[in-house]
Amino acid sequence: MTEAILLVGGKGTRLRPLTVRTPKPMLPAAGVPFLTHQLARARAAGVEHIVLATSYLAEVFEPYFGDGSALGLSLEYVTEREPLGTGGAIRNVASRLTSGPDEPVLIFNGDILTGLDIGALVRTHATSGADVSLHLTRVEDPRAFGLVPTDAAGRVTAFLEKPQTPEEIVTDQINAGAYVFRRSVIDAIPAGRPVSVERETFPDLLAAGAHLQGMVDSTYWLDLGTPQAFVQGSADLVLGRAPSPAVPGRCGDRLILPTASVAPDAKLTGGTVVGEGAHIGAGARITGSTILDNAVVEPGAVVTDSLIGAASYVGARTVLSGVVVGDGARVGADNELREGARVWCDANLPAASIRFSSDE
Ligand code: GTP
Repeated sequence: MTEAILLVGGKGTRLRPLTVRTPKPMLPAAGVPFLTHQLARARAAGVEHIVLATSYLAEVFEPYFGDGSALGLSLEYVTEREPLGTGGAIRNVASRLTSGPDEPVLIFNGDILTGLDIGALVRTHATSGADVSLHLTRVEDPRAFGLVPTDAAGRVTAFLEKPQTPEEIVTDQINAGAYVFRRSVIDAIPAGRPVSVERETFPDLLAAGAHLQGMVDSTYWLDLGTPQAFVQGSADLVLGRAPSPAVPGRCGDRLILPTASVAPDAKLTGGTVVGEGAHIGAGARITGSTILDNAVVEPGAVVTDSLIGAASYVGARTVLSGVVVGDGARVGADNELREGARVWCDANLPAASIRFSSDE
């Protein structure tokens, strides 16, 4: 039986910019909590047992996913008292694993949306005989990432910190946040203290002569670290660019959940999702956006690449682009908010309060 660890924790700092109340892993992406996609993809790849390693908000996961049987999984939850870092979190759940010392254990970062062929990573691990195998992805601008160069056989040669100078950009390959560990490697991580896999476990393994194998591919890959990326990821799931068996319905330009109401001449495109009980008024144009449950978008509003919180309100003719409207917030008619604007939960922006000008 293949088993996996899903890392959903850390300091949670990257949740804050979202302003919506639902914690990010439970925020609906293409109509279901984001974590569902990762769980469903792992199940589709043959994984049967998953341990959710978390350090915060554990209480929101278990009531929703329970024992995992609805997804055909056996799910367990382990909560750290203090965040233990990625390596510490992995070590902390070792006692829940059933794999033997030489068997493979999959590990996934919880905030990545990817089309990774999980089976191919497991096979790469088996054929290479590696201690750890890593999914690597190529990025256009690697400056914001730690770099992972490999040799001609795909063997990892180093883990490099974020490059500071052009000369330090020796590869465009970065850690894509999915691994296969030989079980015994997990047991050897120091217990009971914070450990980072990227800064400690992997470099130490390399220094000790261990075999770390990279699998580079060009499949869909997105780090959902920002609200903008989250909205993009949700749209890509709806459009079918990011493959997931958990998208409720057929992939296409839009996903309208049951009980949502959309005026016949409203235009929904670019992977827009309209949540349950939400209402979209006549002539509204919504592109690449996530409208959460019970939100109201009034006639003539133009919403692009935005996250519209649960039970929030967007007034007539208001223009929103690259915006997060918090749960229960009201943006009155005839406002214009652009890239980066965050409307706090329950805030009330009166009609015709803000217009955007770049003054150029
Ligand atoms: P370290 O490698 O430990 O320094 O963490 P990082 O900050 O480099 O990790 P990153 O923020 O890239 O997070 C990778 C994944 O691990 C995400 O899904 C996080 O939610 C998760 N994660 C990060 N830190 C922790 C932790 O302390 N506990 C748990 N359970 N998960 C974590």
